[in-house]
Amino acid sequence: MVEKTKTLMDRLSELKEEKNAVILAHNYQIDEVQDCADYVGDSFELSKIASETDAQVIVFCGVHFMAESAKILAPHKTVLLPDIMAGCPLADMAAPQKVKELKEKYPKAAVACYINTTAAVKAECDVCVTSANAEKVINNYPAEEFIFLPDQNLGSYIAGKTQKKIILWDGYCITHHRVTGDEVKKAREAMPGAFLMVHPECRPEVVEQADIALGTGGMLRYARESQETKFMVGTELGLIYRLKKENPEKDFYLLSAGMICPNMKFTNLQKIVASLENMSPQIEVPEGIRVRAKTCLDRMLQYS
Ligand code: 13P
Repeated sequence: MVEKTKTLMDRLSELKEEKNAVILAHNYQIDEVQDCADYVGDSFELSKIASETDAQVIVFCGVHFMAESAKILAPHKTVLLPDIMAGCPLADMAAPQKVKELKEKYPKAAVACYINTTAAVKAECDVCVTSANAEKVINNYPAEEFIFLPDQNLGSYIAGKTQKKIILWDGYCITHHRVTGDEVKKAREAMPGAFLMVHPECRPEVVEQADIALGTGGMLRYARESQETKFMVGTELGLIYRLKKENPEKDFYLLSAGMICPNMKFTNLQKIVASLENMSPQIEVPEGIRVRAKTCLDRMLQYS
């Protein structure tokens, strides 16, 4: 370990103890962040841990909506996002006013939102989902028609897995949506025999060509349990680090070189230490919004 990293790791250990802090990192975080975290996981796993932890301070190494979800579920804890600029363009593609307008247009539909939404949008929705539980939540939730936002690709994927009617929003994740069907065709030709796992945030034409579509937690489980030894992975670069670390005898290749989320790369060890030193930047959610957004997240936990 380089000296600077070692010093930062030592300082982080001291601060964690002093502040009673837990470090949560999403599967897309850079290597050093995954290595210093207490838990690395997908959106669902991390929101569950945030709701259950005994720690007084949650350092959320991910993007803004994830830290906000932690604050919604654990309002009495301090939630730190080490780089406040780490946003999510997909979450920014939905605004509360447009949700209200769609509710008026489709009064019989329930509103299901992907966890990649702001607290203000969640407050307007009935139930939240992540890629790990979307199919289950939609099938279990007592409604026959849903407005699904903001990811059109995840929405289309769910529509193929349920008898229920899904009204799509026109948002997308820039990192997943950029991969085209043609690119996948070429990648498969270049690597025959590789097992292709893709995230359901990819376009339908990409999902159709894949061997399986899973969220990041599902991919990790699948890679661990399957007999396959060579994988092409259609999600953000950060997951490759964990896949290789957990399965050193298997090979993992990123489906497309452009699958890098710039926002997920903003956080590093130095910023985590600085956030605990200064107890900043803190995530706050106005109470009126928080209470309504919590109902939306609680229903996800209930129906998944
Ligand atoms: P997961 O819930 O599969 O980890 O995905 C989170 C996400 O933001 C994907 O872009």
